[in-house]
Order: sequence, then structure tokens, then C-alpha cells
Amino acid sequence: MPYAHITGWGMAVPEKVLTNADLEKMVETSDAWIRERTGIRERRIAGPDEYPSVLGARAALKALEVARLHPKDVDLIICATSSPEHLFPATACLIQDAIGASKAGAFDLLAACSGFIYAVHMAAQAIRSGAIQNALVIGAETLSRITNWKDRNTCILFGDGAGAFVLQASDRPGGVLAAVMHSDGSGGNLLILPAGGSRLPASIETVTNGHHYIYMDGREVFRFATRVLAQSTLEVLEKAGLRLEDVRWIIPHQANYRIIEAAARALKLPMERFIINLDRYGNTSTASIPIATCEAVEKGLLKAGDKVVFNGFGAGLTWGALVAEWSGPLPSATRPIHVERYRPLARLRSWLRRSIRRLEGLIWGRKA
Ligand code: ACO
Repeated sequence: MPYAHITGWGMAVPEKVLTNADLEKMVETSDAWIRERTGIRERRIAGPDEYPSVLGARAALKALEVARLHPKDVDLIICATSSPEHLFPATACLIQDAIGASKAGAFDLLAACSGFIYAVHMAAQAIRSGAIQNALVIGAETLSRITNWKDRNTCILFGDGAGAFVLQASDRPGGVLAAVMHSDGSGGNLLILPAGGSRLPASIETVTNGHHYIYMDGREVFRFATRVLAQSTLEVLEKAGLRLEDVRWIIPHQANYRIIEAAARALKLPMERFIINLDRYGNTSTASIPIATCEAVEKGLLKAGDKVVFNGFGAGLTWGALVAEWSGPLPSATRPIHVERYRPLARLRSWLRRSIRRLEGLIWGRKA
């Protein structure tokens, strides 16, 4: 049975920064309150042309570049997202087209902030079963478009961004070792987006009466999160036959510093064992774990051979954890791809395909 290795990683965040000081001008809040209650200092906000698929494609190409894997060799794309552009087409399909992954199947996975863990587990299982060789797993969000900027309970928390992993089959032991997934739909109303997607016209406000914004019972979600983060970590380690001492890093969903502190206390681990970057990005839902991972690799913290636990929770309610031995590119990976050169080519290919489809439509239309 092949092993599923994480061989590539990439992230993309919008340029625009929204600080706590900026939020002070928008709602009744303060930098001190936000930092003390959440640990967040600033977050990124998507520009007018930046959608989950746009950020997701950027992160995906970077991940493929690291893995030295050509987009046309990708078999499967799973995009975990809490803010898909539409219910259909899937954001994963838009990314498939943007990066020119011509033979890949693509679908979105909706498990809110736990989505990235669920998606990596699903891709790893597809590889372990022998069904596929290469998968792209993406977490991509423009939560700013489904955030009510007048609601101080939620608007201080969320940010935009995307992150991606490449998973590949190899006979070498390692990679994804075990995962656990849980859900409890009885808590569905605690964190809910009643209507819409993230690519809606401004006039939607009058139709949905604000139902296209995130609603959250912060206190209840907080209580739930502090309970499940530590629990799922211990559960996944038991499943993998590992102990906490074997693990070099914990990379949690970046929602709130105090939630991570509570998990650290429950696990009796120092905060230094956790990778945390929520101060600069806020809660980017499905993108938070891969973004934190990319930064950990970039800083030289996460190295090949390290055991790492990813854990998360979110709307649904959902929660889960995954333990992996960090791999890096496969030794057989030899074909460098250059993101900057590849992107215009992918756009040209997509434009050609659309034009051919239009032309065929005209020809067949006339014949009919
Ligand atoms: N600025 C100032 N005061 C505020 C703000 C704000 N931005 N927001 C709320 N308050 C006030 C409240 O009105 C309340 O005042 P009151 O006591 O007079 O009623 C007081 O501050 C305390 O409110 P709490 O809700 O008890 O504050 P808490 O310490 O719980 O922090 C927070 C709120 C940060 C939202 C916290 O509950 C939390 O992080 N919850 C988890 C949220 C989360 O992780 N969600 C994402 C899940 S992942 C996904 O799937 C998207």
C-alpha cells in the first residue's frame, strides 16, 4: 500500500491589511480588547478581483512548484472552503481551470474550519487506496465578503487567504499517518451562514435581510473549541500509535489565542510547541492551517522527519486532527515548474478553451 506524502506547500494572501485600529473606526471596539480576547492584531482583506479561486490558484501553483509537479499530473483537487464563490460550480473546478490541471477531478469540501483536515485525510486515503497518485488540497477563503462589518462580535475575527498542500504516493514510509474526523450537527445553529456564497451582488442585502452573513454564538463556540482541540489530538496520536513526546509541532486552526492556550494547558504542553500566526491573519478558516504550515517551513521550524499534528474545529459543528511525518519533495521530483511563467499560459489555455466552446456552440446552433 503506498504512503501519502505531503510534498508541496504554498500560500497566498491579499495585500490589503486591516488593523485593529482600522476596526476601531468601524465598530465600537478597541485594539486592546481584540488583542486581549483573541490575540489578533491585523488581518488581510481581498481586493475586488480576489476570490477564493484566485487566491487558491496562486497557493496551488506555489505548492506544485515546491513539489516539482506539473499541473497536468494532478489527479484530484479538493478545495475546502467556508466561503465558496458559488454553490456550483465548485471553487475547486475554477482552480482546476486556472492552473491548467487538465486531467484532475475536482470538488469542494464543506466542513467549515475543519475542512482542510478533512480534505487532506480524504486525499491521503485516495492515494493509500491506489486510486490516485497526486492530489492538490487547498483551503481558500474570502470571509470578508460574508462578514457583517457592523457586527463587532464577528468582524474582528476573520480574514482572507489561501493555502495548499500537494500530496503524492510513494513507497517510502511516512507522510500522513492517521486522522480523526467528528461532527455534531446539533450545534449547527451556533455558527451558521444561512444564505448565499461569497460572490454575490451588493443588492443581495435587500433580498436576504443580512442572512448571507456569518452568525456566531461566540461563547458557545469557544467552549466547544477548548474541549475538542486537546481531545482530538490525543485521539489521533493513539490511532497512530504515537505519544505526545514524539510530536515536534502542533499546528492548530488559528481562531483565537486563548483557545490554543486552553488546548496547551489540557495537553500539558508549552505554547512554544504550537505554531501560531493568527496575530497577523486572524481566522482564515480552512486556509489557516496551511498558511501557518507554510510560514513554519519558511522559518525553518518544520523540517523533514518532524512529526506534526494538525487540529481544528468549526461550524457544523465539526472537528478533527491529523498526524503526519513531514516529508518535503519526493527524491524522484525533477521537473521544475515556474509559477510566474506558468500563470499566463494557464490563462491563455482557459481563454482558448472557452473560445472553442463558443465557436462550437455557434456552428452546432446554425446546423440545428
Ligand atoms: N469589542 C468590544 N467588546 C466586545 C466585542 C468587541 N469586538 N465583541 C463583544 N464584546 C463585548 C460583548 O458585548 C460582551 O459585553 P457584555 O458583557 O456587556 O454583554 C463582552 O464583550 C464579552 O463578550 P463575550 O462574547 O463573552 O467575549 P469573549 O471573551 O467570549 O470573546 C470571542 C468573544 C472572541 C468571539 C470568543 O467568544 C471566541 O473567540 N469564540 C470562538 C469564536 C471562533 O473561534 N469562531 C470560529 C470558529 S471556526 C469556523 O468554522 C468559522
